[in-house]
Amino acid sequence: MTVEDKIITALKTVNDPELHQDLVSLGMVDTVKLEGKNAFIKINLTTPACPMKAQIEKDVRTALSSLSELGTVTLEFGSQVRGSQKQAIPGIKNIIAVGSGKGGVGKSTVAANIAASLALEGADVGLLDADIYGPSQAKMFSVEGKRLMADEDKNMIPMKNYGVKIISIANLVEDGQALTWRGPILHGTLNQMLNQTLWGELDYLVVDLPPGTGDVQLSLTQLTTITGALIVTTPQDMALLDVKRAYTMLRKTHVPIFGLIENMAYYQLPDGSRDYIFGEGSAKAWAESEKLAVLGEIPINRSVRESGDAGKPIVLSNPDAPESLAFRKAARALAGYISVQNMMTLPVL
Ligand SMILES: Nc1ncnc2c1ncn2[C@@H]1O[C@H](COP(=O)(O)OP(=O)(O)OP(=O)(O)O)[C@@H](O)[C@H]1O
Ligand SMILES: [Mg+2]
Repeated sequence: MTVEDKIITALKTVNDPELHQDLVSLGMVDTVKLEGKNAFIKINLTTPACPMKAQIEKDVRTALSSLSELGTVTLEFGSQVRGSQKQAIPGIKNIIAVGSGKGGVGKSTVAANIAASLALEGADVGLLDADIYGPSQAKMFSVEGKRLMADEDKNMIPMKNYGVKIISIANLVEDGQALTWRGPILHGTLNQMLNQTLWGELDYLVVDLPPGTGDVQLSLTQLTTITGALIVTTPQDMALLDVKRAYTMLRKTHVPIFGLIENMAYYQLPDGSRDYIFGEGSAKAWAESEKLAVLGEIPINRSVRESGDAGKPIVLSNPDAPESLAFRKAARALAGYISVQNMMTLPVL
């Protein structure tokens, strides 16, 4: 057996901790190269935001440590995001809708920071602001007031800032104008934003929805196949029926639910301890009862609002803040969840 073969055999003993299959069968081993005694190995993760990267690296090194003939092992991680089985919009691998039962829980803040976090990990990310009642992404990404350009075939060209391609309804119409729209115009505009826009190749398109269960949600599910939805809640609104209603509506339209993000979950004190201002555990309890995952718990802090208002999501303006670390952790958990979901519905490449 050649040393390369021995390396492959060793890698066959390493399982992806989330996908529960070995790296070789999953097609994640991209390169095995030997130079003298030293090996260069490249592993392609299923998302650049893989929450299990450190664990995989440790397991690979442990598996290879038994090969005494090996010198140094250089491990490189790349990524190849897997998409849902059939791309509803060519080039877009995953569409993530961010919704909530009621308004003001932080959907847009979560959508902006998740999109920015995924881009920070190296993913190709788009953000579509479909909130006709209060579009806020153009402001949060400092592209407010800019007019969208189109190519000669009238396809819109998204703007780009902080590594995220973005189109907000605010870039299409005057303030408040969309509020008077009836269903068909709304449907047409959403269609344009989804299907007549030069998004290019995207690993993730994040869609910021208006609150509740109105026309936009319905149109979106008619116009495309959403990979899944993220429901944003706060501890206070868990006591209300709205979130459960939104959840039921998504279930009825056959949109898979990735899980919950509990926003404003606690206030982190300077000594690192947590003050659960609005009570603790309500999201978790409901999620458990519905067999949903809580993919993130985001603290409340004025810096989250101030960053958004200043036109730069907090994960970018203050990357080391506890709130930023919580957003990035949530984005990785989401990306991991999506990888697993896609792997379960997709034959291995
Ligand atoms: N974790 C947080 N800490 C502090 N302020 C926050 C946090 N999350 C959101 N906010 C602030 O709360 C307000 C509402 O947030 P946001 O606009 O994201 O909510 P929304 O659910 O999108 O609202 P709408 O239903 O109006 O679209 C904003 O001022 C935002 O900056
Ligand atoms: Mg909003």
